[in-house]
Amino acid sequence: MDKKKTLKRARIDCIRGPNISNGPLHSRPLVALLDGRDCSVEMPILKDVATVAFCDAQSTQEIHEKVLNEAVGALMWHTINLTKEDLEKFKALRIIVRIGSGIDNVDIKAAGELGIAVCNVPGFGVEEVADSTMCLILNLYRRTYWLANMVRDGKKFQGPEQVREAASGCARIRGDTLGIVGLGRVGTAVALRAKAFGFTVIFYDPYLPDGIDKSLGLNRVYTLQDLLFQSDCVSLHCSLNEHNHHLINEFTIKQMRPGAFLCNTARGGLVDENALAAALKDGRIRAAALDVHENEPYANHGE
Ligand SMILES: NC(=O)c1ccc[n+]([C@@H]2O[C@H](COP(=O)([O-])OP(=O)(O)OC[C@H]3O[C@@H](n4cnc5c(N)ncnc54)[C@H](O)[C@@H]3O)[C@@H](O)[C@H]2O)c1
Repeated sequence: MDKKKTLKRARIDCIRGPNISNGPLHSRPLVALLDGRDCSVEMPILKDVATVAFCDAQSTQEIHEKVLNEAVGALMWHTINLTKEDLEKFKALRIIVRIGSGIDNVDIKAAGELGIAVCNVPGFGVEEVADSTMCLILNLYRRTYWLANMVRDGKKFQGPEQVREAASGCARIRGDTLGIVGLGRVGTAVALRAKAFGFTVIFYDPYLPDGIDKSLGLNRVYTLQDLLFQSDCVSLHCSLNEHNHHLINEFTIKQMRPGAFLCNTARGGLVDENALAAALKDGRIRAAALDVHENEPYANHGE
């Protein structure tokens, strides 16, 4: 039997809260953590007011009927998707809270039509994602990962020529242009860090008001094409929405500088991975650093 299709029994933790002494007696609302197991931040708050069900599901097919019928609140990470069809299965749901900033795995239009509020945690991991982005970009330029692997694999360097040869792919950051797509919370944090490393930082974000570039000391471009044309390294920080699926594709890759770098710590769906693989093979893109993939968990097929 297909394991995914077997109905998982939700673990329902019934934790008794204080009795309500001066009001009508309400049964405790059922709140479900749909995917993942970690709600260590939320649990201390919820334990006194709700019954929490841990579903650990990857699709709504794995969610217990009691949860589908009775849960009024749902917490979710990003390993489960809620389409209109999925949302319609919940009979009592009033609110969904994404434990994270992106809400691209919930059909928010359908949720609105069904009267389900969708909330997120906008500040989630902003500095950490920006720091990781810088690690990835520095690694693309300075090749630290590959050099460390060489040493780990026992490579011996006989003289300066061999050291130079091993480090031959390393690139100089100073004066290079970093192009940021999406100057939101993470994009801004990356821009500020990148300036300190000597990058000239430009950005493309059609949804921001005029003047942001002045206050942050960045250069703004008004088309994606301009950004791709001017950038030595492109870093994606926009939210994934219905307008920008496969923003980086065969056509837009051709607008990038030959031999440019690409970094994506935003959402996998922003990049057409087949087009990227082809561009990496023919050297059009020199190297890419991806923290996210269109299908997760990522299965490496050796390409
Ligand atoms: N890798 C991770 O672990 C991780 C963690 C947190 C957030 N994220 C992702 O990082 C991204 C940024 O998060 P954030 O908190 O900065 O979001 P944010 O909402 O603050 O910023 C997103 C920005 O993208 C802009 N944007 C939207 N569509 C665009 C487009 N087509 N072209 C250019 N700009 C566009 C918006 O105007 C906004 O300014 C999101 O995709 C989020 O899901 C990833």
